[in-house]
Amino acid sequence: MRRTAAAALVFIPLLAAAVQTSSLPFIVLHGIGDQCANHGVAKFTKLLADWSGSDGHCLEIGRGTLDSWVMPLQQQADIICNKVKEMKQLRDGYNIVGLSQGNLIGRAVVEYCDDGPPVKNFISLGGPHAGTASVPLCGSGILCILVDALIKLEIYSDYVQEHLAPSGYLKIPTDMADYLKSCRFLPKLNNEIPDKRNDTYKERFSSLENLVLIMFQDDAVLIPRETAWFGYYPDGAFDPVLPPQKTKLYEEDWIGLKTLDEAGRVKFVSVAGGHLSISKGDMKKYIVPYLTSKASVKTLLRWSLSDLLGATWHAALGLMEGDGAVLDSPSSS
Ligand SMILES: *[C@@H]1O[C@H](CO)[C@@H](O)[C@H](O)[C@H]1NC(C)=O
Repeated sequence: MRRTAAAALVFIPLLAAAVQTSSLPFIVLHGIGDQCANHGVAKFTKLLADWSGSDGHCLEIGRGTLDSWVMPLQQQADIICNKVKEMKQLRDGYNIVGLSQGNLIGRAVVEYCDDGPPVKNFISLGGPHAGTASVPLCGSGILCILVDALIKLEIYSDYVQEHLAPSGYLKIPTDMADYLKSCRFLPKLNNEIPDKRNDTYKERFSSLENLVLIMFQDDAVLIPRETAWFGYYPDGAFDPVLPPQKTKLYEEDWIGLKTLDEAGRVKFVSVAGGHLSISKGDMKKYIVPYLTSKASVKTLLRWSLSDLLGATWHAALGLMEGDGAVLDSPSSS
């Protein structure tokens, strides 16, 4: 008895120190029509930081909401690439939580932010990974009048590609030739252009420890909603929706999705609700576990931690049940 107690006294501070140093920071990349200062995304970031005990940062791009619509995605990704390189606290690695369009920026950072700090876990909520066949609904207001005017123009024209962020991942399955030729962002990100595939993107993307792909069952913003899992229409038709494993991106392993999946590192998660309407329960279940600590250290400590601190751990989680949706931007992507 006495020996066990003494061992625990020595061990607990050590374990606490080990867990603290191993907890990686995370960044949140918001969706279109959103900004870090908005209540929903600020609360989302704070809840994840509180529950995981990790340092969380929502990274802003330029003028927030406005630039999320009008700045080309490559430029948005360059801004985030520079920011993560400047953040000293990310130096030993970090995790990315992407919301909708923010996932494509996050993936660009993983694939081609040269000399950036390493990304360990990538948690994607409602990401248009394989493209989307419809521009997200903007709503009303001056900005949306501008956006609507742009959408009515030729979507793959230079002008629209330079002034409307979602034109960078708008993929009309019946217009693949124009998409591959003139869409400036997603074809490159997904290594879709036959003679321009870059193995570095694949190497970097497939080095993720975990890729969590969360799809919303009633998503009406992403067309089709399965794009959140890299599922999409076949070239040339609007049906059927192919599951991720039946797409060429997967079968030919253009970016390493198949490699990751076969290694058991892709989690295909489907949750109830509309676009981005994640509940607190699902945040705890599908996001927080990937933000808590570095996998290698966690495995080493699993036995002793759950044994010694189990009771405290469960009590802490029990305090925070509740199931309201946190993010509240139904029309954003
Ligand atoms: C492939 O991408 C990497 C990362 O951005 C880049 O350094 C390299 O020059 C690219 N290779 C080619 C052939 O474009």
